Amino acid sequence: MTGTGTLEMNSISDHLRAEALDYLTPNYGERNLCFVEGEGSWLFTPEGEKYLDMLGGIAVCCLGHCHPEVVQALQEQAKKLFHVSNLFLMEPQIQLAKILVEKTFADQVFFCNSGAEANEAALKLAKKVAQDRGETTRFEVISLIDSFHGRTIATLSSTGQNKLHEGFKPLIPGFSYVAAHDVQEVSERVNEKTCAVIIEPIQGEAGVRPLSAEYLRLIREICDERGVLLIFDEIQSGMGRTGKFFAHEWSGVTPDIVTIAKGLGNGFPIGAVLSSKAIMKHLTPGSHGSTFGGNPLACASALATLQVLFEENYMERVSHLSSFLFEKIKELKKKYPRRIKDIRGMGLMIGIEFDDATEIHKALMNRKIITNCVRGKTIRLLPPYVVTEDEISILIDAIASILDGED
Ligand SMILES: Cc1ncc(COP(=O)(O)O)c(C=O)c1O
Repeated sequence: MTGTGTLEMNSISDHLRAEALDYLTPNYGERNLCFVEGEGSWLFTPEGEKYLDMLGGIAVCCLGHCHPEVVQALQEQAKKLFHVSNLFLMEPQIQLAKILVEKTFADQVFFCNSGAEANEAALKLAKKVAQDRGETTRFEVISLIDSFHGRTIATLSSTGQNKLHEGFKPLIPGFSYVAAHDVQEVSERVNEKTCAVIIEPIQGEAGVRPLSAEYLRLIREICDERGVLLIFDEIQSGMGRTGKFFAHEWSGVTPDIVTIAKGLGNGFPIGAVLSSKAIMKHLTPGSHGSTFGGNPLACASALATLQVLFEENYMERVSHLSSFLFEKIKELKKKYPRRIKDIRGMGLMIGIEFDDATEIHKALMNRKIITNCVRGKTIRLLPPYVVTEDEISILIDAIASILDGED
């Protein structure tokens, strides 16, 4: 990282802040930090200051920033071909689908560009399956209270958070929400009008809340009994984040459809829907599509990401680092039992609950450590899998000194 004079570079950040307020929409609130380079678990400001990234672009940069093999794959692809549209076959798209099929329960893959688009496609697919079977009244979808499935109008409708619905009503009809872990409620609600149940095996935006294997198993049973498709949204929890490729693999429950995005391209936008041939056959020609979905650049990035993930045993690394991190947080909880209320999560998807996490989040930022504060109470950690034990210790020491009141 080349450093330049702080004074001069400070004015770059100030200038960017002012221009952002002028030219960008205000929906992300006011953003004060700008990053211009990244390497592994570290991000660099225009002033050359370095930040430890324990959020990985919100579960996106799973192999860390600018992983050399992903960079190389992208550069090589960029020299060959950017885009041709889905009117044509593309080698990287087929290779990527093949590896996803080989490594998962799925037989076929549909590619898109984001998590919301993946869920949108999954919801359309569930409706299409029912309608093709002649069950035209089966169009309702059940999701969980506090879930998050995206920002498009249908995925927002499936998101069980009133706060996010405000200003966008009426939503799409046919969506209803049940409390997580309440099997009885799902059982009462799933009926001949239901086409799908959509669930995040670990609710990320709700503050990192894993659903129990038993709950997922019982939901699977209800869906099977009543001819309803089970969709797992693994957009945040998938791609090896929990130490297995999908979080649901820990439960032994296999869904009908899985959606992924975020970590798939290690930072290059790409999403995907995975399912069996029996279900995917309902995506008949012309029924769904995307101009950019699965374009050669996105697929080259994702292919390199998956190759590194599998060939270099990153899932084992995630499990090892997870034990280390959980152990350290548990030690913190022992030392500060009244401050740390709860520790939740799996793998490198971890939430630490406080009475008020906003101050902790701010104090960590002041110490140049990036985390995320969910709902004011939970510090969410989604570090890249390349994070080291030393880097984790920097985070733990920082939390300890904040809790010691050293701010
Ligand atoms: C579980 C889950 N589903 C869907 C989405 C939406 O993904 P995207 O922002 O790529 O549309 C997110 C994003 O945070 C998510 O965490």
